[in-house]
Amino acid sequence: MLFDTHAHYDDEQFDADRAELLASMPKSGVGLILDPGCDLESSRKAVALAERFPHVYAAVGWHPEDCAPFRPPDLDALRALAARPKVVAIGEIGLDYHWAENPPKAWQQDVFRRQLALAVELDLPVVVHDRDAHADCFAIVCEFPALRGVFHCYSGSVELARELWKRGWYVGFDGPLTYKNARKTVEVAAEAPLERILLETDSPYLPPAPLRGTRNDSRNLRYVAERLAEIRGMTAEELVELTAANGRRLFGIPA
Ligand code: NI
Repeated sequence: MLFDTHAHYDDEQFDADRAELLASMPKSGVGLILDPGCDLESSRKAVALAERFPHVYAAVGWHPEDCAPFRPPDLDALRALAARPKVVAIGEIGLDYHWAENPPKAWQQDVFRRQLALAVELDLPVVVHDRDAHADCFAIVCEFPALRGVFHCYSGSVELARELWKRGWYVGFDGPLTYKNARKTVEVAAEAPLERILLETDSPYLPPAPLRGTRNDSRNLRYVAERLAEIRGMTAEELVELTAANGRRLFGIPA
């Protein structure tokens, strides 16, 4: 059974067929899905999907690219949402220095820290988005030693990944692992402790190599599992089971 630990089914790209697609997932081998929110509205949508579909769980949070309108009282709304039984993490939160039009770095860091503090307060894991902000992301998560979670779609160096593994963090691998230019990610995937790996699609984004240019969905997680299996010299089936167990452990989802 595949566990897609990162898929945005609240995204408008799924407006036309969201319910049918989600309902069909278990018979396509996708037994669990985690939908992380990107702001209050998308977090509410993710929670509603989780409450409708038994195999869907939600994370709630403000994505760094969407955090400009964040105001401190929003944290109370997030806390209330996080109390719902199908919410298993705070996310997608983090830092994104890639786009010039993103909110200022200091603002992103402030919103990130407030949400990390909330995760510690609620004893929930976090789903971290780190794009071109590796050093700052690492330094900030280290300010909260009690935190646990995943660096989603890991794109940092193997040296940084080792520091994360030492501290109990998980790393997520997505479609880009299957791309031709994935040298650095392949290096990380080859060395990652097997109990620290999660598989994700980031649907509707980041489709695996054979499907680039199309809308991604959780069924395509197989391509990521197959590529990782090839790198690790294991069967895809072994990796699928192992990473699903990892996801259940991190997010506290019983078998
Ligand atoms: Ni995402």
